[in-house]
Amino acid sequence: MTERIVLAYSGGLDTSVAIGWIGEATGAEVIAVAVDVGQGGESLETIRQRALGCGAVEAYVADASDEFANEYCVPTLKANALYQGHYPLVSAISRPVIVKHLVKAAREFGATTVAHGCTGKGNDQVRFEVGIQTLGPDLKCIAPVRDLALTRDKAIAFAEEKGLPIETTKKNPYSIDQNVWGRAVETGYLEDIWNAPTKDIYDYTATPEFPPAPDEVTISFEAGVPVAIDGVKVTPLQAIKELNRRAGAQGVGRIDVVEDRLVGIKSREIYEAPGAMALITAHKHLEDITVEREQARFKATVGQRWAELVYDGQWFSPLKRSLDAFIEDTQKYVSGDIRMTLHGGQAIVNGRRSDTSLYDFSLATYDTGDTFDQSQAKGFIELWGMSAKVASGRDIRVAGK
Ligand code: ARG
Repeated sequence: MTERIVLAYSGGLDTSVAIGWIGEATGAEVIAVAVDVGQGGESLETIRQRALGCGAVEAYVADASDEFANEYCVPTLKANALYQGHYPLVSAISRPVIVKHLVKAAREFGATTVAHGCTGKGNDQVRFEVGIQTLGPDLKCIAPVRDLALTRDKAIAFAEEKGLPIETTKKNPYSIDQNVWGRAVETGYLEDIWNAPTKDIYDYTATPEFPPAPDEVTISFEAGVPVAIDGVKVTPLQAIKELNRRAGAQGVGRIDVVEDRLVGIKSREIYEAPGAMALITAHKHLEDITVEREQARFKATVGQRWAELVYDGQWFSPLKRSLDAFIEDTQKYVSGDIRMTLHGGQAIVNGRRSDTSLYDFSLATYDTGDTFDQSQAKGFIELWGMSAKVASGRDIRVAGK
């Protein structure tokens, strides 16, 4: 029986050419698998037809947009995960859900190998292959761009020679990856890290310099999950989409960073994640009133480690699973409403309320109704500083000798 290879298919030039390229190099039949993670653009049926037109024996499309929002974006939100303090893991969280569907398709179609279109320089090859090793340890992996020398020039020549139903002339100097959680743009002119991004780079966000009138929004959460916007019930996918639109119109969520890739390279990336950044901001502010101080401090460290693991392709690892359990436990009381103003590139919280809040007006107030016993502060400070005071006494004594 002819060997079968499942290819992670985006509908673009490289993976379209990869269908025939893999076939010629290996003699295998190629099954193209496209996964909808809310990237927008062409319809899945158009993409499916193109894969078949490029020689795939089967083309399978998975609508994973709700699954992606519920099982990948929501945990990222609960973790307030920002890699290196900036990047909300847009591409990093889409790889594991794509891997899940690739492995599923490999089982369904009796494939022995999974292929993806990543180069040998990025994080995504690691995320795909580590994911496949974990979910389908018996499956082999190939990357035609990296392992079968499929360069862009060769891809264009191949497409023209075979008359493939794909546009080869459209010249876009950028490498773009997008889904409902955000958009990542790199290469070309951006590789000079002094160059400011030009306007044409952005798609999810409008220029924040000339914003429309401020937009006030109330986001309601239940146990860390967004459940309503301005009082209207929403699913997580709807919440992200609605905030992509509203925060995007105000230019919220533009990020320009040089980040540390897992393979040791520093690379420049432009992100736009209006919905994700508005949600993370709101969620963090709700945690500020509902999560106990020590738990909150520790959670910040856990969230950072969680972001690093996910960035580094360890989505399915035991440590990531353990951290998920911790984070989930912290979300029990993260319920309530956050009101924020979206304007001029910023999402600024100006109101919060929660039935499970730890904010105690009678403890906090400086006005009448104060129940805080200030007389206890003096003794507390005395003991709190004791250890450092003893050490300082020693330091002075030793220095004086
Ligand atoms: N640097 C990001 C990451 O590793 C995004 C990678 C994909 N970016 C792109 N523009 N194609 O998660």
